[in-house]
Amino acid sequence: MRQVRFNHLLGLAGVSREVITEILDSAEAFLEVLERPIPRVPSLRGVTVANLFFEPSTRTRISFELAEKRLSADVVNFSSIGSSMSKGETILDTARNIEAMKVDVVVIRHSAQGAPHFLAERINAAVINAGDGTHEHPTQALLDMLTLRHQVGRLEGLKVLILGDILHSRVARSNIWGLRTMGAEVTLCGPATLIPREVESLGVNVTHNLDEALAWCEVVNVLRLQLERQREGLIPSLREYQRSFGLTRERMERAGREIVVMHPGPINRGIEIDSDVADGPYSVILRQVTFGVAVRMAVLYLIAGGERVIE
Ligand code: NCD
Repeated sequence: MRQVRFNHLLGLAGVSREVITEILDSAEAFLEVLERPIPRVPSLRGVTVANLFFEPSTRTRISFELAEKRLSADVVNFSSIGSSMSKGETILDTARNIEAMKVDVVVIRHSAQGAPHFLAERINAAVINAGDGTHEHPTQALLDMLTLRHQVGRLEGLKVLILGDILHSRVARSNIWGLRTMGAEVTLCGPATLIPREVESLGVNVTHNLDEALAWCEVVNVLRLQLERQREGLIPSLREYQRSFGLTRERMERAGREIVVMHPGPINRGIEIDSDVADGPYSVILRQVTFGVAVRMAVLYLIAGGERVIE
């Protein structure tokens, strides 16, 4: 069995095609495990994982926890609400204390960009980034790529449109790095105020015309309009946004062919995407959620238990 070793997963920037491929290939094996009547393997027996969530999360937190349990790891959960964080303890103190309890892997979500990198330099445990501010969300991009490999059969040359609030999106950033490394073509579409200038240096195209972009793409990954992060004046109004950039059934019909529809969730129905499309025949939104567990199993396995085979 081939083995790629890595100590942390902090982002997809700079991660090689070889490593991404190894993670996706391992995830395929775990998808098979998830189909079994008893979907559990002993790969991480004796390994302790702490999930540190300093920002609200439902899907990602549950997905990591399930992945850990399906690998037979011991799991502890920490969320900043109702903890000593509210008494002024720093992330580093919290992480050091948790590490002193012999934790092997820390999964962290934090509103500050670079929080996982900061920890990785200061503690001995392996660190997995579950979303840091508007920076990166590597396991989301990996699960998106796994879904696409399954759905379309390839990433090389695939035409992927990322639609919406790019500015605030760690999902967009990780997808851009990962997809470009894997040879996909990426176009970003959204209002000019929500697409940061520097993205063009990452080898992506930018357009503000959704109909044109839909005529080009094979896949559209719709991003949530991050209402909690909007500053004044970035969009004229929700209605205006929906009219120009909302993915509606009429728009999909105008494109006139099958386009794979993705969304990382949670969905603002009727804003960035209509229910007709989110629940429609081309949507793979719930498959993404299933594949997320397999991808997180693969990442945990390659970080913490890589020398053992999947039994
Ligand atoms: C994303 C996140 O938290 O970055 N969601 C997720 O992980 N499922 C995207 C979002 O919040 O819009």
